[in-house]
Amino acid sequence: WERPDGRHIRQRLLVVANRLPVSAVRRGEDSWSLEISAGGLVSALLGVKEFEARWIGWAGVNVPDEVGQKALSRALAEKRCIPVFLDEEIVHQYYNGYCNNILWPLFHYLGLPQEDRLATTRSFQSQFTAYKKANKMFADVVNTNYEEGDVVWCHDYHLMYLPKYLKKYNNKMKVGWFLHTPFPSSEIHRTLPSRSKLLRAVLHADLVGFHTYDYARHFVSACTRILGLEGTPEGVEDQGRLTRVAAFPIGIDSERFIHALEAPQVQERIKELKERFSGRKVMLGVDRLDMIKGIPQKILAFEKFLEENPSWCDKVVLLQIAVPTRTDVPEYQKLTSQVHEIVGRINGRFGTLTAVPIHHLDRSLDFHALCALYAVTDVALVTSLRDGMNLVSYEFVACQDSKRGVLILSEFAGAAQSLGAGAILVNPWNITEVAAAIDQALNMSHEEREKRHRHNFEHVTTHTAQQWAEFFVSELNDTVIEAQQRTRK
Ligand code: G6P
Repeated sequence: WERPDGRHIRQRLLVVANRLPVSAVRRGEDSWSLEISAGGLVSALLGVKEFEARWIGWAGVNVPDEVGQKALSRALAEKRCIPVFLDEEIVHQYYNGYCNNILWPLFHYLGLPQEDRLATTRSFQSQFTAYKKANKMFADVVNTNYEEGDVVWCHDYHLMYLPKYLKKYNNKMKVGWFLHTPFPSSEIHRTLPSRSKLLRAVLHADLVGFHTYDYARHFVSACTRILGLEGTPEGVEDQGRLTRVAAFPIGIDSERFIHALEAPQVQERIKELKERFSGRKVMLGVDRLDMIKGIPQKILAFEKFLEENPSWCDKVVLLQIAVPTRTDVPEYQKLTSQVHEIVGRINGRFGTLTAVPIHHLDRSLDFHALCALYAVTDVALVTSLRDGMNLVSYEFVACQDSKRGVLILSEFAGAAQSLGAGAILVNPWNITEVAAAIDQALNMSHEEREKRHRHNFEHVTTHTAQQWAEFFVSELNDTVIEAQQRTRK
């Protein structure tokens, strides 16, 4: 990035996401302890050398007092993070309400909540108002921290209004928006009462990105059918102004997983797990406990497999890691009890005094424990009902270079478009089909597993998170330069 005075500096990237990549715990009136959570986005940006990334987002905690806010801001600044403080009411209406009870299920084809469809639209309206208010609060923090030449990269369905507010503040800001979930068919999107406003707000960005070509196509169709705008191969055009729309499939930092397998504590853990499950094939599911992940359907398919193949009962175990999430949203609470009920029933039905077929954990595992689990797994079950990409499938593949386990993957996860040739693809709603895929996976020859694994490993190690981030930001820079050149002509 060349400054007006001719000096070259690393371009600053302001990454704006609902959640900061740290968890904050208050230790005293003005002291906080922070832990970096290395999710996909964090590892993607840690590896990018061209930019100097700064994060703007919610720290996930309510901090009503000024002393606490100041202390937290200071602690976060050391991690290059800038907080947006949201009070409890906003979190309730914006995050639990509009984001996670309306947009999230809708974008994953689960429809709008029944009560909002039937009853008066009052709660829907107030949640939408809170959504805009929260987006405005993010925009204010971005605007305060923005310096000329910065690139602003907005993330996910929480912040669809952000491009609009940012461009209102400063029309010259380079603004990109990336959606980490699917963008649904325009017929689904059109059921949303605020369908047009959200599309128009996103279109203020210079570049709009999705994980797959299909999601990008759905977005462009929604703009043409709902807003009557022109869709071009480049994006969406409105009164001569083009918003570029394209697919940028994310990846993982595969090296981090591959190296972790060599760590002594991971090797030790692998040895323990092998002893613990010796004589049994290990099947693994790792999901946030979310309705889009299809956990009940997956467990029912496993039950069907055991029912049809009783000789496997004491020779296979399913380890399901279900990470609690959005626990204040009633739908998620219902799901937790539903999953517990099914697991209990199946373990009662097929368990013996010495072994149970399903080990279900309601918690997350640390990175090293997770790597060890991936490494000892014979069959991974990623059977989301819908999923933007699903990086668990990538992580599993990265950890399997000695075992060559089989990946059973939902055809409705974005990852199906990249790992489809190596995985067994299934329709997660079809329990009979998933049960048959389990059978196929457990009986697959070594040659077949080798061939499939090679394909997937090659993809996962060559399409990394760093490349994804670099590609998006360089496209965003180019898009803005091209637009400037067009206006000059
Ligand atoms: C999905 C979303 C992310 C979100 C994550 C965890 O992957 O795309 O934006 O951060 O879920 O959900 P949470 O509500 O806990 O942030």
